Amino acid sequence: MAQNTLTITDNRTGETYEVPVEYDTIRAMDLRQIKVQQDDFGMMSYDPAFKNTVSTKSTITYIDGAKGILRYRGYPIEQLAEQSNYLEVAYLILNGELPTQEQYDEWEYVILHHTFVHESTKQLMQAFRHDAHPMGMFISTIAAMSTFYPESRDVLDPDTRLKQIIRLVAKVPTVAAFSYRHSRGLPYVYPDNDLSYTGNFLNMLDNMRQGKYEPDPVLERALDVLFILHADHEQNCGTATMRVIGSSHSDPYSAMAGAAAALYGPLHGGANEAVLRMLLEIGDVKNVPEFMKGVKNRERLLMGFGHRVYKNYDPRAKIIKKIADEVFEVTGRSPLLDIALELERIALEDDFFVSRNLYPNVDFYSGIIYQAMRFPIAMFPVLFAIPRTIGWLSQWVEMLNDPEQKIARPRQIYLGYDERDYVPMSER
Ligand code: SDX
Repeated sequence: MAQNTLTITDNRTGETYEVPVEYDTIRAMDLRQIKVQQDDFGMMSYDPAFKNTVSTKSTITYIDGAKGILRYRGYPIEQLAEQSNYLEVAYLILNGELPTQEQYDEWEYVILHHTFVHESTKQLMQAFRHDAHPMGMFISTIAAMSTFYPESRDVLDPDTRLKQIIRLVAKVPTVAAFSYRHSRGLPYVYPDNDLSYTGNFLNMLDNMRQGKYEPDPVLERALDVLFILHADHEQNCGTATMRVIGSSHSDPYSAMAGAAAALYGPLHGGANEAVLRMLLEIGDVKNVPEFMKGVKNRERLLMGFGHRVYKNYDPRAKIIKKIADEVFEVTGRSPLLDIALELERIALEDDFFVSRNLYPNVDFYSGIIYQAMRFPIAMFPVLFAIPRTIGWLSQWVEMLNDPEQKIARPRQIYLGYDERDYVPMSER
């Protein structure tokens, strides 16, 4: 019977080691027994950017990058996008099961009735320049929220954690809308708890009459589905950051500010903004061949393409492409779509992209929809952060409840100077 182990022979010493295999992985700590001298520290694994490193066990989200599969708690993203709504999916991701009607009603009520932010948040946001990037405002304000809820530092208490999770899920649309209104020099619109989660968000963004706002149902639903698609994505850069910061038992507001800061990068969630700027720069379908030449010469990246895990079409991009048509029925078709479709057509045929498994990812088409819905380009990463809030927080809770987790502290290979003596200034 084949053993579930690896036999490692260290050719430096001729020693052989048996290392257990679990879930097709070995524990890096099992390498430490491999030494040349008995007082050596022991072997470690070197993995820049953690390209082949498992940092945790999780039951939240499953991705099969080869097959283009994404499931939240076992439910395929296609079914959730079709049949569920964001708040129900948020409940599922956090609690592990779809809610009963009673559980859903209670969850929806508690979220929709915690949408107001502390009044001093407005003064805080007023301090930003008029042209401050909304994502910079969002990250700073989320961090500042830790000062309004000092009890949130009690991260090991489940009831305290849940209270902060409710506050963050409920308030991120308000913070996002306030940052948008500030960037437009418009007065803030307070939440209207009679509206749905995305309907209220549109209200706080768009309401110019300060009266009862009626969101367009097509845009309200389209945003809700986009929020479902962005809710979680296992151990991505932003979520890994949430877990690392959370591992020191920092409060969830400070940890989430860090996660949002990681998401802001153009290689991550900031790619949706970078895609739009790229499409605007290309300007016309006739300029696509020239642009693609630059990409193949390594002068730039094709933003919105490629993925660390998906080596197939990102299943979210397929769904977003379908939503685009529904949104354009209301907003009018975006001319940028023709450029995007031509970029995709070439990329799916050209060996440079095919040989590198570069397919459209979640950020490639989402920006075109946001632009058609008249969101400023700078708001796009914020529109990613809002729905990802539940993913970050659910992963944070899982990390705190995992008996194997401790404060995250990677090691290094030191290649710097050996010991040397200080040189007085007069002798340098
Ligand atoms: C998100 O991890 C997640 O789950 C993230 C996310 C989530 O939901 O949280 O899915 C959201 O961040 C999606 C990704 C958004 N980013 C972009 O669209 C930016 C453009 N994409 C690239 O920067 C890149 O594809 C990454 C960052 C997404 C992935 O990079 P990897 O896995 O480190 O791959 P790599 O850089 O090693 O690329 C492999 C090869 C290289 O060529 P060679 O050196 O092997 O010849 O592919 C090339 C790269 O140069 N390549 C690209 C490219 N992406 C990779 N070439 C041109 N354009 C690109 N977009």
